[in-house]
Amino acid sequence: MRTQVAIIGAGPAGLLLGQLLHLAGIDNVILEARSREYVLGRIRAGVLESGAVELLERAGVAERLHAEGLVHEGFDLAFGGGRHRIDLAGLTGKRVTVYGQTEITKDLMDARAAAGAKTVYEARDVELHDFDSSNPGISWTQEGGRKALGCDFIAGCDGFHGVSRASVPPGAIKLYERVYSFGWLGVLSDTPPVSEELIYVSHERGFALCSMRSRTRSRYYVQCTLSEQVDEWPDERFWKELRARLPEDAARQLVTGPSIEKSIAPLRSFVAEPLRFGRLLLAGDAAHIVPPTGAKGLNLAASDVHYLAEAFIAFYNKNPGELERYSSRALARVWKAERFSWSMTKLLHKFPEEGDFGRRMQLAELEYLATSRAAQTALAENYVGLPL
Ligand code: PHB
Repeated sequence: MRTQVAIIGAGPAGLLLGQLLHLAGIDNVILEARSREYVLGRIRAGVLESGAVELLERAGVAERLHAEGLVHEGFDLAFGGGRHRIDLAGLTGKRVTVYGQTEITKDLMDARAAAGAKTVYEARDVELHDFDSSNPGISWTQEGGRKALGCDFIAGCDGFHGVSRASVPPGAIKLYERVYSFGWLGVLSDTPPVSEELIYVSHERGFALCSMRSRTRSRYYVQCTLSEQVDEWPDERFWKELRARLPEDAARQLVTGPSIEKSIAPLRSFVAEPLRFGRLLLAGDAAHIVPPTGAKGLNLAASDVHYLAEAFIAFYNKNPGELERYSSRALARVWKAERFSWSMTKLLHKFPEEGDFGRRMQLAELEYLATSRAAQTALAENYVGLPL
């Protein structure tokens, strides 16, 4: 078996890359370690920058997104008992779209099936070969036998724990990392969202976020410690804790109900440099992780894939230089989103180790944001997404 681009990982990064390459007439095969159902069962953030929406339009997979996605023109910052709106549209002229990553993944899978492009699910023990040569390949175990695929390039889109980045010799890669001392406990419920827009809450008890997937499905988060387990958080305890962190009017309006998903996610900032190792190119979570505050993870995967698809298309149009620029182009945007996600995380979460002084610094910055159009503009232009 042979293809032009072998893509490892059938999450949104790999699937979007596959779709953009397919539309450009570049043959590709996707290899995924898990099953289709497993990939679709992962709940991730759901806020899309307008640039990511445009990219999904170009990929021909935005029909349901436009029909079902919720366009948001602002969000609220809540602290000290009050709520302060950040008018994204008024400050930047741009909007964001609330549409779950799970839905994007499904739309991309459907488009790939319609295109007749090949995806191998449950590919075990994937190995990358000879990506420092012009003849790379991958091999894997499937149905008891060892399979192999030769290719021109390998795109590593297999997430933080994937085999792609792990296959790079340690001396060839530099890793930057910050691990935070807390996590997010998330609940999905078929209840109407507490507010039309998202509310990011900085509270003495810890951070909270009110988000949504639709007009009838809510997604809520509370900051928790890393030692806590999901089974220590029956629904009743979760709703009580969320309500305690919300401003009074929101707490009164909160509609609770049974959770349909509940999970704890650690928070991490991580960047690998560079993104290209000969004929292996990394994109999305395989290359970088942001803490979820600000919802940049999927948006960064989309911008990586945009640059990477352009580089492959240029290569097959006899302009190989674009591939050399991929890493620096993508990383320039990655680092800015890392900075933004880190600063939002620092601004809104409880950091006991920072003491009372640290808390007053957060409150001073929040007050400044609430009253300064300049500060709001800086926040808003990062939130809606920096230009590609
Ligand atoms: C979500 O809806 O899951 C979500 C929204 C905004 C964030 C993070 C997560 O900043």
